[in-house]
Amino acid sequence: MKKVLVIGAGGQIGTELVLLLEDKFGKEAVLASDIKEECPQALAHSNYISLNVLDKEKLSAIVKEEGITDVYLLAALLSATAEKNPKFAWELNMEGLFNVLDLAKDGHLKKIFWPSSIAVFGPTTPKINTPQHTIMEPSTVYGISKQAGEQWCAYYHEKYGVDVRSIRYPGLISYTSLPGGGTTDYAVDIFYHAKQNGEYTSFLNADTALPMMYMDDAVRATVELMEAPAEKIKVRNSYNLGGISFTPEELSNEIRKHLPSFEINYAPDFRQEIASSWPQSINDDNAVKDWGWKQEYDLKKMVALMLDKVDPKAYFKG
Ligand code: SER
Repeated sequence: MKKVLVIGAGGQIGTELVLLLEDKFGKEAVLASDIKEECPQALAHSNYISLNVLDKEKLSAIVKEEGITDVYLLAALLSATAEKNPKFAWELNMEGLFNVLDLAKDGHLKKIFWPSSIAVFGPTTPKINTPQHTIMEPSTVYGISKQAGEQWCAYYHEKYGVDVRSIRYPGLISYTSLPGGGTTDYAVDIFYHAKQNGEYTSFLNADTALPMMYMDDAVRATVELMEAPAEKIKVRNSYNLGGISFTPEELSNEIRKHLPSFEINYAPDFRQEIASSWPQSINDDNAVKDWGWKQEYDLKKMVALMLDKVDPKAYFKG
């Protein structure tokens, strides 16, 4: 019987992925976990357990006692935070992965999902329509950890038959739970400021194009990849996903169609350098060909939905 453990479930992806998994497999088939003792508000109706992925013994005990078959490992430090705490980022992002991969290697898990990122690419990567297989020389701690992680996933699959699957997420845009410490976070923050103040100061320059994706597409892609027959999964490090490419200026122009007096200013900080090292758009032909990926949200649909749904009260309170 399928039983899913989501690790890092309190984060931006986890809060929405848990709901989708519950819809698909039933509440009893999903166990959400996060490092917080208290169950995060967004998971109040889910089965929840407190878990630090670096606590190998507790992780192993939960997997065995709960009869976990599939793990979605989302606990990680993102790009901007990782630059401030490189050693801990490396420890969390890599040891967490090994703890889960080893459980699968020892026969305790059937499947693992592990997220990678556009951060695996670097300044020497072709920036437009970045191919699946290309130069990867990441310049951030986060990107280095994701690239190494991808290759470990491929290695565990090749040498030990571990069924681990992965997506290189673009920047993710959602309103249920805020992103924490990423370079693409401006594309979420902007909606709260636009709605509350009619003004936003971007920490990236006007013309910095980055690949982004609306969360519904991202979590649907994740579950579709995980539920695809194993023989269809030809890429065992991590799949490119395209998403929507836009600049802060293009995003603000779209917002202005709903809020005509919206103003954007630019005050780039250290995140500009990170963003400049990443691709502007991504080629995802392999995901389309291998497991039938199809994106639903474009810029127009995403902006209309975000402006409708974001709640500035909660954002500015805390
Ligand atoms: N959205 C992430 C970040 O900005 C990239 O995976 O760090």
